Amino acid sequence: MSDISRATALAHPNIAFIKYWGNRDDALRLPANGSISMDLAGLETRTTVRFDPALRADSLSLNNSAMTGKGLERVSAFLDLVRRMAGFDLRAAVDSRNNFPSGAGIASSASAFAALALAATKAAGLDLTEAELSRLARRGSGSACRSVPGGFVEWLPGSGDEDSFAVSIAPPEHWPLVDVVAILSGAHKPTGSTEGHALAGTSPLQAARVADAPRRLGICRQAILTRDFAAFAEIVELDSTLMHAVMMTSAPPLFYWQPATLEVLAAVRQARSKGLAACATVDAGSNVHVICEQAAGEAVVKLIGSIPGVREVRAAQAGGPARIVEVE
Ligand code: PMV
Repeated sequence: MSDISRATALAHPNIAFIKYWGNRDDALRLPANGSISMDLAGLETRTTVRFDPALRADSLSLNNSAMTGKGLERVSAFLDLVRRMAGFDLRAAVDSRNNFPSGAGIASSASAFAALALAATKAAGLDLTEAELSRLARRGSGSACRSVPGGFVEWLPGSGDEDSFAVSIAPPEHWPLVDVVAILSGAHKPTGSTEGHALAGTSPLQAARVADAPRRLGICRQAILTRDFAAFAEIVELDSTLMHAVMMTSAPPLFYWQPATLEVLAAVRQARSKGLAACATVDAGSNVHVICEQAAGEAVVKLIGSIPGVREVRAAQAGGPARIVEVE
């Protein structure tokens, strides 16, 4: 390894069809239940990591602005894991850019930690398997482990750190689904997911949600493998509502939905009853992800674009795995 070594990786965000909410172990980010998602093509984080003996401390530039405080601490703690694996103590300069604006209704922590895990390990001269990389990305943000493999992805909850990682269950071209995101106006910055996961266990509904997760995972996996949109739509909407029921009944309660969230959910349900292949899911925010078959894409954009309170609409197809774009 030369004195200075650098690598750049890119990763896509993902949208969960069966959600991750709550941890068995907060520090290791071992999830209470398994989850299934799809990587989002076209949206990406590109991260360059440079380990350099001349650096006195880690630094983080996010979308061209220097970060300090909690954001930098989280990245630095993550780099400690990589330094431990590599057996050295060099500090790093991290430059990370998203091609989608923050507040676009798409969480960036999944693509951010997937890209960081890949760039940092490559720059450190490590060659990890996909499973090892997914395990590592999980430590930065749980959902980041699902942005490592490509296409349709399942996070196997595992029994501990060793076997809690994500695997691809189908490549992106298997089923041309589209995620049409309804971005609502006036949305506040919500409670972050790290804080939210820690509250999940305070809801009396979480135990029932977790106990039923293997059943929902089985239905969703099968629906994806057989491209059965009707079965897929039903389980995706149930799973999202179950997660929000837990959020709304935790202590303190978390209400992410805005009035316009419910309007979009109702419009999608009604359109589906009239034959449109679309269903909806909501993450830890108020924006609605409308998942549809490609042929329904245009009608979905038109439908949700006309709902008052929807500020912007963005569409993404199934994307590929995290990958290296440059090594030095
Ligand atoms: O990876 P985190 O800690 O940002 O958690 C993600 C939580 C949800 O987006 C609400 C659900 C999910 O499975 O992506």
